[in-house]
Amino acid sequence: MKEKLELILKSAEEEIEKAQTLQDLEETKLKYLSRKGELNSIKKNLKDLSDEDKRIIGSLANSVYNQLDEAINKKNDELYKIELNKKLSEEKIDITLPSDITPQGKVHPLTQTINEITQIFQGLGFSVMASENSPEVETEYINFDMLNFPPNHPAKDMQDTFYTKTAPNVILRSQTSGAQIRQMLHQSPPVRVISPGRVYRCESVSARKNNLFHQIEGLLVDKDITFADLKGILNEFVRIYFGASRPTRFRASYFPFTEPSAEVDVQCIMCGGKGCRTCSGTGWLEVLGAGMVHANVLRNVGIDPEIYSGFAFGMGVERLTMLKYAINDIRLFFNNDVRFLNQF
Ligand code: DAH
Repeated sequence: MKEKLELILKSAEEEIEKAQTLQDLEETKLKYLSRKGELNSIKKNLKDLSDEDKRIIGSLANSVYNQLDEAINKKNDELYKIELNKKLSEEKIDITLPSDITPQGKVHPLTQTINEITQIFQGLGFSVMASENSPEVETEYINFDMLNFPPNHPAKDMQDTFYTKTAPNVILRSQTSGAQIRQMLHQSPPVRVISPGRVYRCESVSARKNNLFHQIEGLLVDKDITFADLKGILNEFVRIYFGASRPTRFRASYFPFTEPSAEVDVQCIMCGGKGCRTCSGTGWLEVLGAGMVHANVLRNVGIDPEIYSGFAFGMGVERLTMLKYAINDIRLFFNNDVRFLNQF
């Protein structure tokens, strides 16, 4: 048995030495050291030996096992390094290849419209109001009272305006017009500003209405400003935004903070003025509200209406975007469906 063990040791050592791959080595290990391997078959026969021989042969078998185990581990390390180096040299990475394309984000269509309109008015000499003069959480006093809304005006109704619970008379602004007040309190004329931002109304959400939307407010106050200036500026804006071939009309209207007040319509984009569902058969689409700043509003902010006059206007960003791109549901702007957003 002793000779047999020595033979096993010798032939196993040779095989380990000859192994070319980790696979070869694994096979050798199985052949000699596994439960069904050659060393174990010797150990199984120990029971037939005398106690003395059991001890001698047993310890010899253990020592052969340990030697082979160590030799296999050593060889394993060597072969592992060789195979790794081979793999690394074969799998060179070509760093000059173009990488996988990361999908590119896009500017939201409403932001695109705000940017476009801002640029148009900047071209007409307006600057953008500092955001601290245009807060979304506003007082009822600025949003309504200072704008010459009578105390019981229906727009103040809880059904139209979001009131906060934290303080009485603190609301989510229902229009950007309050920014006019803050700007005039902050700056004496000449004033020539626009202010884009979010507004909130307590509406039930539908294809036409959302309770959050965006407006762009405009204000110009100086000496000798007349309705002709208002018309000139707004016609120029509509001409650039909708294209030169789109006729406009000014319709008399009413807002508490302007006198006289007007609404500006453009000829219907869908039917070209013939009358269709989009324009309810009128051939015209309302695009913004405007007017000459009311003398009471000027007085409220300490500007003398005998010396100064001005005009103001306000437009809905969603509406202008929907008209330009023939979008029929306002909720599409807020659902963040990339299939919709990717089209812009
Ligand atoms: N604030 C008005 C609204 O939300 C829009 C508006 C109309 C703004 C006339 C103005 C204006 O500055 O002069 O319906």
